[in-house]
Amino acid sequence: MSRDHLALRGVITSFDRSRRSPLIPKEIVVDWSKSQQLLAENSRFIPGGLASLNRKADPMIAFARAKGSRLWDVDGNEYIDYHAGFAPYILGHGDEDQIEAVTRAMAQGLSNYGSGPTAEEGELARLFLKACPNSQKVQFFNTGSEATSQAIRVARAWTGKSGLIKMQGGYNGHHNMVAANLMTPKDQLGGPSTGHAYPVVPITAGIPKEELSLIHPVPFNDLEAVEATVKQHPIAALITEPALQNIGVVKPKPGYLEGLRKLADQYGFLLIFDEVKTGFRAALGGYQEVSGVAADLSTYGKAIANGFPIAALGGKAQYMDLAISDDATKRVLIAGTYNCHPVPVAAAIAALKKLLNPELGVYAKLERLAQRLEAGQKEVFGRHGVQVAISRMGSAHCVYFADRVPNSWWEVLELHDFAFDSKYRRALIERGIYNFPVAAKQGSISFAHSEADIDQTISATDNALKSLLKK
Ligand SMILES: Cc1ncc(COP(=O)(O)O)c(C=O)c1O
Repeated sequence: MSRDHLALRGVITSFDRSRRSPLIPKEIVVDWSKSQQLLAENSRFIPGGLASLNRKADPMIAFARAKGSRLWDVDGNEYIDYHAGFAPYILGHGDEDQIEAVTRAMAQGLSNYGSGPTAEEGELARLFLKACPNSQKVQFFNTGSEATSQAIRVARAWTGKSGLIKMQGGYNGHHNMVAANLMTPKDQLGGPSTGHAYPVVPITAGIPKEELSLIHPVPFNDLEAVEATVKQHPIAALITEPALQNIGVVKPKPGYLEGLRKLADQYGFLLIFDEVKTGFRAALGGYQEVSGVAADLSTYGKAIANGFPIAALGGKAQYMDLAISDDATKRVLIAGTYNCHPVPVAAAIAALKKLLNPELGVYAKLERLAQRLEAGQKEVFGRHGVQVAISRMGSAHCVYFADRVPNSWWEVLELHDFAFDSKYRRALIERGIYNFPVAAKQGSISFAHSEADIDQTISATDNALKSLLKK
């Protein structure tokens, strides 16, 4: 539905982004009435009112514009953004070089021909492999879910086995192979499950039980549980985010990823690192560059194109070449009408050129800003006597209201004060700082953020705590 149409219906009557600038206060009472109207209007046509129900959150805010580090909603409120659209925007919203590249691609007459190779997909592959040297070959898709489902399919074709180990608290996409055991409630897990797998708890209806029986969720940072599972079941692959970033930032303990690598080699399953979130954010070469541990197959998405829809599966040539195997019983299908559509390809090339440019120093700036935020948060929380454990990997960060940083989802459940986190996120949003309003979700800083943004965030945190602790 066009904005004009909504305006006619009185949903968006004026989009005046100066109305509530700069960043909310003036004794708060934030007006989200147009957001509410928009949701109600959309709900007449879309179940739940929005196309990805992962976007459903309280407060439900309808955003209308973004630039750099800033977001504006349909009511005219302005925010400094740390959600980054679930993390892709490493360069910030509306990057000028990407806009120029995408506009040029369209003006040149590039299209989605549906036949034959393109020069642009070749250029993107070359840049990708330069950034991610653990991958010898690459294929591109539209979403992270497509990349992870393809990775698992390749692993099954290679090993001839079907079982899959995934992490409790890891998210690897919406498809049947992995849609289980994310932020699972305590009572459904029963306990920490040290040394063995958890019961499978799907996060969607509609997965056949035969498929669920192939998923083995294990606690993160627990090598014994992996080994016990491999001994019991024929396992094709283990898929994990190298650091769990859908439950904050839960890092691998020293030696854990190395241990997974050893078990994969010993028992003959493929190690898949899902770098859809850590890729191009933890470092240019993803968490594999940070840890020095190489996966057999790696999936990427999000930051690779700074917010445009493209994803990648990279890996050792022997696995990637199954797509062209002479043996039809081993050959895996790679197909997609929109794979390497010229718009996201142009956007990804422009983003990768910036990320690869040492003179621009993207990662150094991100680290500086992130350190400034972390130091400021520590000072403010300390001054207010609020116990926090801040977990940070470069520009990805999470404040846990806990006495230490958790090592697994069970520890997040045990240690983190979810109720206080929800109130804290709400209080920040009311002060113009947008973190996704679900407790224990990771935040992201972009290259477009400034020191002034960070200082404003710290001062808003101070004000939020004053108000929360008064109550
Ligand atoms: C680690 C990880 N893997 C896979 C996915 C799925 O990506 P998409 O939502 O693009 O399908 C996500 C999405 O949040 C993710 O965080």
